[in-house]
Parts: sequence; C-alpha cells; structure tokens
Amino acid sequence: MSAERRTSGTPAAPPALELRSVTREFLLGSELVKALDTVSLSIAQGEFTAIVGRSGSGKSTLLNLAAGIDVADSGQVFVAGRELSRLDDDALTIQRRERIGMVYQFFHLLPTLTVRENVALPLLLGRGDERKALARATKLLEEVGLSHRATARPHTLSGGEMQRAAVARALVHAPALVLADEPTGNLDSRAAAQIVELLASLGARHGATVVMVTHSREAAQVAQRIVEMSDGRVIADTAATPA
Ligand SMILES: Nc1ncnc2c1ncn2[C@@H]1O[C@H](COP(=O)(O)OP(=O)(O)OP(=O)(O)O)[C@@H](O)[C@H]1O
Ligand SMILES: [Mg+2]
Repeated sequence: MSAERRTSGTPAAPPALELRSVTREFLLGSELVKALDTVSLSIAQGEFTAIVGRSGSGKSTLLNLAAGIDVADSGQVFVAGRELSRLDDDALTIQRRERIGMVYQFFHLLPTLTVRENVALPLLLGRGDERKALARATKLLEEVGLSHRATARPHTLSGGEMQRAAVARALVHAPALVLADEPTGNLDSRAAAQIVELLASLGARHGATVVMVTHSREAAQVAQRIVEMSDGRVIADTAATPA
C-alpha cells in the first residue's frame, strides 16, 4: 500500500511484531553480554520469517521478548501495535495466552495428558468451555494429520508426530503470532520439512504471523524472509528466493 493511500484511506495494520532499538543484557560472571544490541525489526502481519544465526547470537532472546516471557533493558517491543512494557501483569498474561502460540525444539508436551488434551491446553487455560476446546483440538489434529493419535499419550508418538501435535497446540487458540524456536532441531530431515511446511500452510490458513528460529538452511528457504543475527545484532535481512 502506498503512503498516500495509507494517509487517505483506512489505517494500515500495525506490524505483527516490531522491535525498536531493543537491547537485552545478561551478566555472565563479571562480563556483561549483549544478547540483543539495539535491534530494530518490523514483521508484517501474515509474514513467515526465519531467524538464523550462530549459537548465542540472540535468536531465542528475541523470541522470548516477543512472547513477553522476558523484558528488554531498553527499547520497545510491540505486538500488533501494543507495546508490551505498557501492559500490566494481567494484560500481559492475556497477551501471552491468547495472542501467542509457541513451538519449541523439545516439544514441551505434558506427559500425563492425551495428545488431544495437550492440543486443547491453550484453550483450557483460559475460560474456555472444555467440550468446545476439545472439539477445536480435534479439528487442529485433523489439519496436522494426527487424528488417529488423539487419545494417545505423547511419549508413544514419534518426534515428528510430537512436533505436529505441538504445531496444532500453537494454533488452536487462533493466535496472531506464532513463535517457533528451533522447531526442527530434534527431527530428521523428512520430519523437519513436514513441520516447516505445516507452519507455513497452517500459519497462512489461520492468518497467523510465523517467526521461526532455525539452524537449517532448507527450513529457512521456505520462509518469505530471512533475518540473520550475529552477536545480538541483525546483520542481514533478505527476501527468501523462491524454490
Ligand atoms: N538467562 C540468561 N542468563 C544469562 N545469559 C543469557 C541468558 N539468556 C541468554 N543469555 C546469553 O545471551 C546470548 C544470546 O543467547 P540466546 O539464547 O538468545 O542465543 P541463540 O541465538 O538462541 O543461541 P542458540 O542457537 O544456541 O539457541 C548468549 O551469550 C547467552 O549466553
Ligand atoms: Mg536459542
């Protein structure tokens, strides 16, 4: 949309995620490490972005700040136009619970719940109706091809299946923003490709913005945009070349 249309027509949607000059430091022994060093980044709604970079470059720190799990030392983090530091504890909890979906390298499924209950969990943690939550989980399990494992316990699933369940859980509450930290890090290449495809296709279908940290070049190529980090800074930001 052009600048003129934006000023004369309806206001443009705010970015799904925006960092303005964000710094996050940690004290490691006597040394102050800048996990993020004045990072500015804007990710449009609906965009599928991969974050790449060496170990320790600040990728997880960036996701944790976006999720509202961690707080910047300086600068501002906006999710869908809301500045997180301006939200009180209750609003931040709602923000995390209702508007963010997370996918982790080690799945983080609860062993005592069935696969379907795990997927429904973000809805059950809210004030959701249990029957509706489980029905919605059933639908998401269909979308990730896991209907046949709905009543199984997570430990009986393969790694790829566990991550498909985790992707279903990340999308079950229709979050605006899905944050995936190394979602393919523990999978073989075939399962990894499936997970990245699911994040791309389900993200698009559900209108979610997906930010995925990855060490995998193949995984990053599926994204529309690749942001490379080094020593807490963004050193490259490129549109991915279509395969
Ligand atoms: N809670 C913490 N306490 C102390 N230092 C931290 C903490 N979290 C991150 N760091 C440091 O901040 C820097 C960035 O860490 P971060 O976890 O963001 O890196 P990363 O890019 O995700 O790395 P990896 O690819 O290994 O997951 C590292 O030097 C790390 O040691
Ligand atoms: Mg990390």
